[in-house]
Amino acid sequence: MAALEASRRVGTAVVSKLYPTRSHTGAAQGGIAAALANLEDDSWENHAYDTIKGGDFLVDQTAAEILCREAVECIYDLEHMGLPFDRTVDGRISQRRFGGHTKPNPKYDPSAPAGTEAAKPRIPVMRSCHSADRTGHMILQTLYQQCIKQGVAFFDEFHMLDLILEDGECRGIVAIEIATGALHVFHAKSVLLATGGFGRMFKVSSNAYALTGDGPAIAYRHGMPLEDMEFYQFHPTGIYRLGILLSEACRGDGGIMFNGQGERFMERYAPNLKDLASRDVCSRSIYQEVRAGRGIGGKDYVHLDIRAETMNKYKSSPLHPDQNVDSHWVEKRLPDIIEFARTYLGVDPIKEPMPIQPTAHYAMGGLPTDLDGRVHRNARDVVPGLYSAGESACLSVHGANRLGTNSLVDLVVYGRRSGRAMADYASRVEFHSIPAHPEAAAKAAIDDLLGRPRTEPWARLRDEMQATMMDHCGVFRTEETLVKARDDIANLKQRYQRLGVQDKGSVFNTGLLEILELGNLLDLAEATVASALARRESRGAHSREDFPNRDDNAFFKHSLAFANGQEGARVEYKDVDVIHVEKDGERVPKYPLEVRKY
Ligand code: FUM
Repeated sequence: MAALEASRRVGTAVVSKLYPTRSHTGAAQGGIAAALANLEDDSWENHAYDTIKGGDFLVDQTAAEILCREAVECIYDLEHMGLPFDRTVDGRISQRRFGGHTKPNPKYDPSAPAGTEAAKPRIPVMRSCHSADRTGHMILQTLYQQCIKQGVAFFDEFHMLDLILEDGECRGIVAIEIATGALHVFHAKSVLLATGGFGRMFKVSSNAYALTGDGPAIAYRHGMPLEDMEFYQFHPTGIYRLGILLSEACRGDGGIMFNGQGERFMERYAPNLKDLASRDVCSRSIYQEVRAGRGIGGKDYVHLDIRAETMNKYKSSPLHPDQNVDSHWVEKRLPDIIEFARTYLGVDPIKEPMPIQPTAHYAMGGLPTDLDGRVHRNARDVVPGLYSAGESACLSVHGANRLGTNSLVDLVVYGRRSGRAMADYASRVEFHSIPAHPEAAAKAAIDDLLGRPRTEPWARLRDEMQATMMDHCGVFRTEETLVKARDDIANLKQRYQRLGVQDKGSVFNTGLLEILELGNLLDLAEATVASALARRESRGAHSREDFPNRDDNAFFKHSLAFANGQEGARVEYKDVDVIHVEKDGERVPKYPLEVRKY
């Protein structure tokens, strides 16, 4: 999206280690949020409130309002570019429910008995525009086609190794051409990092193998901070053991999670929204059921049931109370999910429930950016010429927990804004000089790796990192587990210095690239653990069992983790952006802090 927007004004290239349509946006399944109000009343203000509450109030509020306002226009832009959204019967873009997306309940009565419809202050709303359960895939294809039409130059399968930073400005990147091993220097007036997330630091993840956080890790090594790294989202419904995503759209469309005793356990943890509570709440609830011995067969998983008969029994589909659903309806809405379950689980979800467990899914943290995607080197100053958007960036529009379908809209809205800003910057400045050999550091690192004997397999280090992050810095954390994770990562970083690569060749040397990616993940793991250790409270996706409450006095602030050599990471803080409004002659917060309940 950024490239498309920039290319309307300046020459633009995309450098990608993957073929672009294999980027992980393609794995986002269930939808993209925008308050179009096509099926029921809604407003961008509802969406903004949900986003801020969903993020456990750590969201930068101007960023959230822009997101939700501009989302609507962006959806129509995508539609006009040819994105094949599903339709309502009268031809408008179809929308579905997703966790934490709500509107005020028109029947709300604070004196109504608990458990009744009238006792719910907010009720789910259909806000997620979708193309079946392949929404990210469709967005990716549409934007790629538009970029080709617009003449964007694509350098496919070029792996970024370094940023070119001179006089405090970003002036390009260094990349290795995977097919030949040749190093290339891209001299640019502005650079945008859209390298995605880093879920591969965890053992069970919905993320593709390529998601190793290359952009943020390289910037971190150059002294830039990483914001809010302690907030890592576990999606509640990954395929048991494999982590492959089973979209939240399953629950948006009426699917229900059950424990080993056949209970709809979310009633206990989120009496109003139940299975449509925010992801952090659902993931914690699954673990609490498992810990209490109520997993399926006493094991560490629960069931996700999308059978039509279950939806009809619990009246949970969006068609109720007027209509029952049948299996054809389910198959039409969730074709990929059904296929995944049949392929990877050998389970037919039309006939039986699917075994699921939380899976590492999305980094709320990343490179600190402003409303135009400009990367900040500290709480105040930007790095001229450097931008970031999507999961590699932290605006912070998702705060401590992102709502489902808000990632696609984030990358479209803020990709567009960042693309405009970088084109604007590029058309104002001259090409500034770069050093004679900007590739020298990357070349030396590669030569060093190729020259060393192979000591131990890199995959062993990766497995140990993934295990320690999953077990000690996952859904639940304590001081003790985080100290263990910190020490493990420090030890792995030492051993990493001695790794050698077995394949000494230059053509498609995937071993070499995987070692470089592992180095990136280890740096990001270090920043994640340090930020999690420093935040002695529980908020959103960061659940400290030793500090179970949110502490707004001490921790209503964003963390910034800086690389600090042998010491690990140093953590500083910056303020949350809060909008104030006039009320009864006083300036008061527009979104007052409240206890988050669903
Ligand atoms: O559950 C899903 O379809 C994922 C969407 C998202 O992470 O936004």
